[in-house]
Amino acid sequence: MDAETFRHLRDLVYDYCGILVRDDMQYVMERRLWPRLEAHGLRDFGAYHHLLRFDPGRKAELDLAVEALTTHETYFFREPHQLRAFSEELLPVLAERNAPWRRLRIWSAGCSSGEEAYTIAALIHDSGRFEGWDVEVFGTDISRRVLATARQAEYGPSALRATAPEDTARYFEAVGNRFRVKPHLRALVSFGHLNLLDAEMAQLVPRMDVIFCRNVMIYFDTPARNRVLQLFHGKLVEGGYLLLGHSESLISLSADFELVHLRNDLVYRRPLGQKVGE
Ligand SMILES: C[S@@+](CC[C@H](N)C(=O)[O-])C[C@H]1O[C@@H](n2cnc3c(N)ncnc32)[C@H](O)[C@@H]1O
Repeated sequence: MDAETFRHLRDLVYDYCGILVRDDMQYVMERRLWPRLEAHGLRDFGAYHHLLRFDPGRKAELDLAVEALTTHETYFFREPHQLRAFSEELLPVLAERNAPWRRLRIWSAGCSSGEEAYTIAALIHDSGRFEGWDVEVFGTDISRRVLATARQAEYGPSALRATAPEDTARYFEAVGNRFRVKPHLRALVSFGHLNLLDAEMAQLVPRMDVIFCRNVMIYFDTPARNRVLQLFHGKLVEGGYLLLGHSESLISLSADFELVHLRNDLVYRRPLGQKVGE
């Protein structure tokens, strides 16, 4: 791929989904996109760029290109200290705060194949505090392929590598040598296609009590991160919580959230008393 085509493709991907392919990652882009060229019978990246810009099916192809360029790595019960903070420190607060209307909404933004969303559902269920409540865990991702896996709710052993053996029996039913999430947890979770940089589509997302967005924005540059943080700010209720991956922080990014020191972890919160749009 020549330097100009690389720049065109990089800008196209960035404008679409916020993922910045650095100059030194050109060879990775070539390797990962090559199967897409082959799928269309194209011989060079210039022709592929043309297709992504002008073909009537360009949007679907952009999704597939982004899918090829991103990492979908995830597993159940990832980052246990943070999950402990969620179940032992945040859920009790939310159970009390939301008791008058008995509704709880959690968003797993960039949920990949669904392990994070089902983990959240398991923690909510096990807390025993929300029986009979209207509980919804929303998982969204830009990749339709991972969402199809999420909806199927069936996983191989590697997805359960951080799941304790006694929990495996509680949360999953065996299907051959695979594991299917039990129906009472599946009932709490729904999945939808959403590009976090598509403000128009994001309008459909309701207000949340907690947003998990872990290991997603690491691939974004600062302006793209700020756009997504603005979206999250508008989608959180006052006092709602934002949980990022352990290597991610809002330092120097956003003054809209306050840092909350919990016993098990640090989380971000939309300040109480801050009205929507402020
Ligand atoms: C590494 S996975 C993280 C999965 C899970 N949150 C976790 O921490 O285990 C990152 C996911 O973010 C999704 N993603 C990347 N850019 C996105 C965007 N602009 N909108 C929505 N999802 C995006 C990718 O498709 C991928 O499935």
